[in-house]
This record gives sequence, structure tokens and C-alpha cells, in this order.
Amino acid sequence: MGLIPESVIEEVLTRADIESVVSRYVLLKRQGGNMWGLCPFHSEKTASFSVNPSKNIFKCFGCGKGGNAINFIMEIEHMSYPEAIRHLAGLYGVEIPETGYSGDNVQKEERERVKDILKEAAKFYYKSFNDESVGKPARDYAAKRGLTKQTLDNFGIGYSPINWTALYDHLKHKGYKDTELLNSGIFAKSEKTGKPYDLFRGRLMFPIFDSFGTIIAFGGRALGDEKPKYINSPDSLVYNKQNHLYAMNFARKEQAKQLIVVEGYMDAIAMHSAGFKNTVAALGTSFTDSQLKLCSRYAEEVVFFFDADAAGQKAALRAIQMMMDYLKRLTGINIRIRIAKVPDGKDPDEYIKTNGAEKFKDVVKNALYVEDYLLDRAKNDNTDPETGELDRGRYQKDILTYGSWLNDEIKMSRMANVAAPLLGATAQAVMNQMIKFRQAEEKKHEQQDSRALERQRIQDIAGRNKAEEIDDGTPEEPVEVAPAKPVFKKVVDTATKDEIDLFAYALSLGNALADSKKIDKTDIIRPNDFSGDTVRELVRIFLNIFDGRNETLYARMSDYFSKLTINGMPAEDVMLRAVENADKSSNVDIKRDMYLALLFKVRTSIIDREEEKLISHRASASPEEKAKIDEMLRRLSEYKLTLRNKIGEL
Ligand code: UTP
Ligand code: MN
Repeated sequence: MGLIPESVIEEVLTRADIESVVSRYVLLKRQGGNMWGLCPFHSEKTASFSVNPSKNIFKCFGCGKGGNAINFIMEIEHMSYPEAIRHLAGLYGVEIPETGYSGDNVQKEERERVKDILKEAAKFYYKSFNDESVGKPARDYAAKRGLTKQTLDNFGIGYSPINWTALYDHLKHKGYKDTELLNSGIFAKSEKTGKPYDLFRGRLMFPIFDSFGTIIAFGGRALGDEKPKYINSPDSLVYNKQNHLYAMNFARKEQAKQLIVVEGYMDAIAMHSAGFKNTVAALGTSFTDSQLKLCSRYAEEVVFFFDADAAGQKAALRAIQMMMDYLKRLTGINIRIRIAKVPDGKDPDEYIKTNGAEKFKDVVKNALYVEDYLLDRAKNDNTDPETGELDRGRYQKDILTYGSWLNDEIKMSRMANVAAPLLGATAQAVMNQMIKFRQAEEKKHEQQDSRALERQRIQDIAGRNKAEEIDDGTPEEPVEVAPAKPVFKKVVDTATKDEIDLFAYALSLGNALADSKKIDKTDIIRPNDFSGDTVRELVRIFLNIFDGRNETLYARMSDYFSKLTINGMPAEDVMLRAVENADKSSNVDIKRDMYLALLFKVRTSIIDREEEKLISHRASASPEEKAKIDEMLRRLSEYKLTLRNKIGEL
């Protein structure tokens, strides 16, 4: 792919006006100078997603996402920057001259290396599977599961030998570096030696392909009853499990109007062998809106199979609610959703094995439309299996809840029609009640949305740090943290999203920053917490002005904002938006927790960078220097521990 000239990007942004780009996905209503709609990036019931046609930008005040038309396409289509430009150029008739080669970037090269590693790994697993002695247990297991040679080869199924470093040694030998191997997600890092070791050992290996057939991850099944049954490689530079569906690379080629979604790898494989090649599997997560979007690219209808157990049934309702919500928010997607049920509580794999493919066709054909499925659920879930008596109160509640999920009045009225006789009411009354219910829910959710988002983000940050936690010693006095290197070279106005948000929350907290008992002196931002020169300068000014009592803090700051840039944009725009978002916080406690979570995250990453630098210095240092460096490293790790403990308390 060639480098895209700046002039072309400008033309794309001029022609692809934000309003028309967004309108392909979101229903917008005009209000004042802006357009408003339901955010396509997070779940909400009231519009906090805005489009500013004069500035040509969008912004969600709920989840904070914002930017220009290119950013919007990147986000919603899961495209890279150049991909999004090309996409828009195509839509709006801008020609892209093909010259030179892609300037960006390191990330891309790293991703390519990871893909190479995964491909090599798949070859290695495949060879091991077919190796006379090494692969015997795996071949026996595959035979027991009825996997034919053709199926095994088609899905590239392999075997990871029972050895801590079999794959590691193999790939090292091929010249891959430890850091690259760790990037791939299929190695873990030894706590003791710091060296990578194989994540998958003694497992049947399923390569996970993206829609175009590139290997991006692996799933590995235990051959016996050992736990966990499946290990899946984690998200990585090339893999985000929420965006992919197993076997989509094959299913998409069918160009069928219908896609079938099952829960497991083995179900998908069994379906393909039985001739249902339009089948995909969710990757061990609950079905996501992004996966629905992916389906809608290739099909008009999705038939879901959920496990018959309680967990599966719960997952079904959750997925339906999510999907209906998603379809409500997006205008561009048109997809029918149906829910199928395998008789006798079996999974598709088992059912096909005992009853054959022909019978299974009927199972697919009998799949219910969402509204019918929900009607059945409401009835079955609330009918006493012994007396056959319907609990009318609960039934009514479920019907109104499910009805409120539907976006389509026709579906609603269909539901009302069926439910009305059971409730001894008129369909019109049920329908009216559904609509009222929906409005009440919307109101209730409005408040919850922003609160949940903030909570989620605090948890995300806290959770990530907890996962790495090492449990030793109690923290001492914090050390002064060394300045961070700028993330980008040369440019001095850079700031990460976390940094911007951190500063914004500090500004938004204002007085409360000094008042709060939970925030002590060391928890107040300082210039060194930030990587870019402009933000550091702004923080310096902030600290000068800030006396814990100032009511006009932000207004006084904005003078300085107007003179500086952040990430190439007017600091005023960047900060105003971030502060407005922080201001929306549901209450001051949450705002303060968010501030602290961001602070700790930012500081932890500064320390990480500092540690890396010290460790690389250490290699060529003299003995005295080494001792000094070790002491510094010790203090840094202690400080990091303090931060982790604090974040754990949020
Ligand atoms: P199931 O437990 O239903 O397994 O998990 P299965 O697909 O029927 O597998 P077999 O037939 O016993 O081999 C369904 C899916 O959930 C994910 C996997 O993607 C699996 O295919 N899963 C399950 C995990 O990721 N980890 C687990 O430990 C279990
Ligand atoms: Mn199974």
C-alpha cells in the first residue's frame, strides 16, 4: 500500500462531510447547531453522540470517542488509518495516486512479524500432529471425535507437544526475537527467568483465522478432562476476539444469505463437515455487536444456536438485548435474527453425530424470529412445569421488558397480539404499556450509562494492574518519578488519551482535588506526569493558579489553552471536550476515583518506560553503576507497588 499524500487526505475530509458519513450508520436529529444521535460505540438510551457539521467532527459525550470522518470510519469499521481513508475515498470519489510506500510504521512491521510467527507456529503444530510418535495422542483424540483427515487439514488442526519450549526453541532457531514472540500471544513469560515459554502444551490446536484466512490466534483443547478445557490465545497486535468469528474465512465464501452462529469450535467444524459451511463460532465470549456487524457484511440473516444449559439460555437473552440495542442505534445495518434450538439439550456437534445432517436442516429451518423466541421464553420461563400454570405477573413483566427491546413497532405489536389473551387484556393496552415501559427504561438508563462507563473504565485500569500484581513487602515513601520520554519523537505537543483525560479530570475536580481526603499531596498531578512539553507547561500553569479555592480555574486556564496545541489540535478544543466529558461524571466520588485511576495508570507507564531504560543501560554498566541502577530499580518497583495498592483500593 502506498503512502497517501496529505492533499488527498484533505480532499477526503472535505468531500466526506461528517454528517453524511455518520448518517450512514446513525440516525441523527438536528438540535441547535449540532446533530444528535445514539452513540454507535457504546450502549445508550439517550443521545449523547453529537456531530458538529461546521467543525466537521463528531463527539460522544458518553464514551468520549470523537474525531473526524476518518476516525469515525476507523472506529466503526475497525479499519486502520489508511484503510479508512481509502474506504472514504472510494465512497466520495477521491482518487488516490499510488506512490512510494507506506510511511507508517513500526506497528505495521510488528504486526507482520506476529502474523509470520503464528503461521510458523501453525505449521509446527501441524507437523507435530502428524509426527509418527509425538502426535499419536492427538490423532487418537481426533479420531475419537470423528474428525476426518480432510477436516483436520481443512481447518489446519495441529498438536502442541508436551514440552515447555518446543515451539519457542523452534522459532528462536528461525531467528525470531523474544519480544516478537511475546507479541504473538502464544508465549507466556517466566516470572523467574523472564524468558518466554510455550502457552499451549499437549493440546489439540485450532488456528483461528481472520475473515481472509490469515492466522491471528489459536485455541487449544485439552485431550482429556484436564482444566481448562480450552485455552485461547489472548488479544494481541493482530487479534481482538470481539471482532472475529471462527470459520468466517470459509463461511463468507459460501455467499449464503444466512449465517449460522454456534458456540464452540467443535460445533462449527462438525457443521462444516455435515455440509453447513455457512457456520461460524463465537470465540469463547458472549456475542458482540462487532461480530454482528461482521455477519451483516456477508449475510442477511443470522441463526443462533445457544447452549441449552442455564448459562447458554442467559447468554441468549443477553445477546438478543445487545443486538436489538445495536440495531436500534445503527441505521446502516439490516439483518434478521433468528434463534434455533437443538432438541434434547444437545449441542449441534452431538446432534449431528446421532441424527445426521438431514434432520439438522429442520432444526435450522425451525429457528424462531426474535419476537417469537422472546414470546416463547416469557411463557416457558414463567409456567410451572407441574401444574402448567402461568405466573401472570411475571409473564407481564417479561413481555413488557422484551417488548421494550424491540425497535420495530410491527414486531412489538405482534408480540402484544400474542401476549394479550394470556394477560386478559387488549393488544392495544399491552402495546401502550410496552411503549411506556421503553420510555421509562430510557430515562433510567440515561443516568446509568455514564455511571457504568466510568465505573467500567476505573475497573479496567484497576483490573489490568491487579493482574500483574506481585505480592511482596509494604510500600515506603514514594520516589520522585523521572520525566517520561515523549511518546513521539520531535513533536513536543503530544499527549496520550489517558494524559489528556487525567488533566481534564483534574481541571474538572478543581476545588475537590484539594478537599478530598482520599487524595493526598503526592496524588496531585505534576508536570513530569506528562510526556509532551505543551501539556507540561499547561500543568505548570494550572498548579500556579490552583490554590484549592479558585472558582474560575477553568476560565483562567482557557487563556493559555488558546495559545497552545495538543497533538496538533488547538489545546482549547482538546481540553474543553475532555473537561466537558469529565464534568458529566455522575458524582464527585466517581470523578475522583477516575482521576486517581488515570493518575496511577499514567504514572505506572512512566515507571515501566523508566525501568526499561535502566535495564538496557545496565547491560553495559560498570559494577558500581550496576549497583546504583539496581537500587533505582528497586525503588521504582516499590513505588509501583504503592500505586498498585492504591488502585486496588478504588
Ligand atoms: P463448550 O464447553 O460448550 O465446549 O464451550 P464444546 O465446544 O462443546 O467443546 P467440546 O465439544 O467439549 O470439545 C463452547 C466454547 O466455549 C469456549 C470455546 O470456544 C468452546 O468451543 N470455551 C469453553 C473456552 O474458551 N474455554 C473453556 O474452558 C471452555
Ligand atoms: Mn461439544
